[in-house]
Amino acid sequence: MKIGIDKIGFYAPHLYVDMNKLAVARDVEPAKFTIGIGQEKMAIAPITQDAVTLAANAAFGILDASDKEKIDYVIFGTESGVDNSKSAAVYVHGLLGLNPHARCVEVKQACYGATAAIQMAKGHIALNPESKVLVLGSDIARYGLHTGGESTQGAGAVALLISADPKIMVLEDQNSLYTDDIMDFWRPIYSDKAYVDGKFSNEQYILFFNKVWEDYKEKTGFGLKDFEAICYHLPYTKMGLKALRTVLDQGTEEDKDRLLANYEFSKTYNKNIGNIYTGSLYLSLLSLLDLKEDLEAGSRIGLYSYGSGAVGEFFSGILEANYREHLYVNQHTELFESRREVSVEEYEVIFSETLPTDGTNVELEIDHDPAVICLAGVNGHSRQYINKL
Ligand code: CAA
Repeated sequence: MKIGIDKIGFYAPHLYVDMNKLAVARDVEPAKFTIGIGQEKMAIAPITQDAVTLAANAAFGILDASDKEKIDYVIFGTESGVDNSKSAAVYVHGLLGLNPHARCVEVKQACYGATAAIQMAKGHIALNPESKVLVLGSDIARYGLHTGGESTQGAGAVALLISADPKIMVLEDQNSLYTDDIMDFWRPIYSDKAYVDGKFSNEQYILFFNKVWEDYKEKTGFGLKDFEAICYHLPYTKMGLKALRTVLDQGTEEDKDRLLANYEFSKTYNKNIGNIYTGSLYLSLLSLLDLKEDLEAGSRIGLYSYGSGAVGEFFSGILEANYREHLYVNQHTELFESRREVSVEEYEVIFSETLPTDGTNVELEIDHDPAVICLAGVNGHSRQYINKL
């Protein structure tokens, strides 16, 4: 049975900060952020957006009435969830009016969460071929103002509809995994900002890539020649390139040129959004599919997922015939074009505005937020979400 990605949607908040201006404000050479790190714009979430609303907005843009009826499993990958008990998936299920006969859960393993969700979805579809699974990867990446990680923040969500006979990409069965208990990046329960050992995290990301790539090659007999492109989890767009470069000497000049050229397409959305943790790999895939218009059906795309702490996985997919007809390219172009730049000062104010942590009720002004689904406040310790339509 063919199982894979039937639809893929994306949402990011309407505000961003320019990385050149952030660099100047931080007394850093702009080229460090734009070339050294590889980021141009960083999406900023207003207080009216959180992991739940970003995911709900991403899914809202792609689901039709038949999908809503057929989805019987919502799996929400996030590392910036809003509740220690109730899953973010249940909120999204309610906001989108999905079929009540559904299972809803949240999964966590840093940026690997959405990949775990996809693999769970594949197993579910194998047993229930008529059903569809909604997989969400949604996060707000926060390291803090004036921190080493500040230039690698971001906010956004990707929604993937997983089904049998998918319209976009069939996920192949071979994959390779690697887990090791390390402290490269983590977020204690009491902190709304991540802690990170930056250099160590970079090294481990590459080490895990080499482990799973070598294992995958051995299991499958595939090499670089078999891939049209390889998409990476992109905490910042230079990171995937560093990993890719470590294996390029395994291929011909042609392989090298093709993979490097396609890497450019696969990083474009990410360099304008920043890190969205669980959704980053799938934003990169979306960037490649939306922007590389002549990518042929039948092409194999490699996918490297990395979640600090850490779990790495390499797997792959094959593009279906006419896949382009099922992309939402115009929706994404419009999203990028309608964003508003904020100054570094405004970004600092927005970043510092957080919900009370003592349970005080709060009502938020949602008229300034163009998103269909927003957080409107907190009442009696309960988050109040609104679908404006
Ligand atoms: N022009 C061009 N390039 C310049 C430059 C200039 N003027 N100045 C510096 N650079 C280059 C440096 O040479 C360096 O390039 P290389 O990495 O190729 O050597 C690059 O800019 C970055 O410079 P530094 O290494 O000095 O940067 P830093 O120490 O300030 O921080 C960082 C970089 C470690 C990524 C930091 O932003 C960070 O900690 N980010 C969060 C952690 C992270 O994203 N880790 C990634 C792996 S973990 C993961 O993937 C999970 C996840 O999502 C978090």
